[in-house]
Amino acid sequence: MKLGVNIDHIAVLREARKIADPNPLDALGIVKRAGAEQITIHLREDRRHINDSDARNIIKLSQLPINLECALAPEIIDIVCELKPHRATLVPEKREEVTTEGGLNILGEQDRLIEVIDRLHSNEIEVSLFIDPTYENIKRAKELGVEWIEFHTGKYANIYAMLFGNLGNTPHTIYELELSRKELSNMLEEEVTNLRILSCDAMEMGLKVAAGHGLNYQNIEAIADIETIEEFNIGQSIIARSVWVGLEQAILDMKALLIR
Ligand code: PXP
Repeated sequence: MKLGVNIDHIAVLREARKIADPNPLDALGIVKRAGAEQITIHLREDRRHINDSDARNIIKLSQLPINLECALAPEIIDIVCELKPHRATLVPEKREEVTTEGGLNILGEQDRLIEVIDRLHSNEIEVSLFIDPTYENIKRAKELGVEWIEFHTGKYANIYAMLFGNLGNTPHTIYELELSRKELSNMLEEEVTNLRILSCDAMEMGLKVAAGHGLNYQNIEAIADIETIEEFNIGQSIIARSVWVGLEQAILDMKALLIR
């Protein structure tokens, strides 16, 4: 089970003061030393954390593959094609959101997706689509000819948070519902089963499967044993823990949970 460490939040801290420290570039060696397999970054249109120069230097200097998350905006796709990361993960983006709140609307964005995927492929960049875990979405992703899908695990993380009182990471309508423990427990089981079945379906279609969003040291365990999920991309919880134990230890702790 591979771990991609999303290092955006190092740049969030830097941007809080608009100075040069901490520099996400300093994370590259530590992430590799701790045994993670990939660095993930998100070049947002509003550049609220990772900026163009970060992305350029990270892609140039990293010894690990770079998974660059990005929206479909023409300006961003131009930059991605120039920087040529190992993989581009296409995500929906809304300016006012705190974090990526859901997966892509594949049907609604189909024409633009066809164009962008074609451009990325002609620049030898493999493509992943960040999608909500439904069968229709994986079928559409397959039809679009991408190599990877990444399941948005925000709903799973939020059900877990409501059930066990640990912090959810993603704003979600589920918080507005009044649900009993029994209902939440059933929903959690359904969501894990859904991820298990769909990742198997996707693998059988020839897609590689990643998952991410809102995953942390508590909720990772119930889905870490889904063997058909090849990779988890985790950011917030690892960077938050690194404040207390350091980045290397925080990654080692997550790796240990994934291996188990
Ligand atoms: N995967 C994707 C596609 C994302 O957009 C994000 C958040 O930037 C993550 C994974 C990591 O989410 P988190 O920071 O909640 O672990």
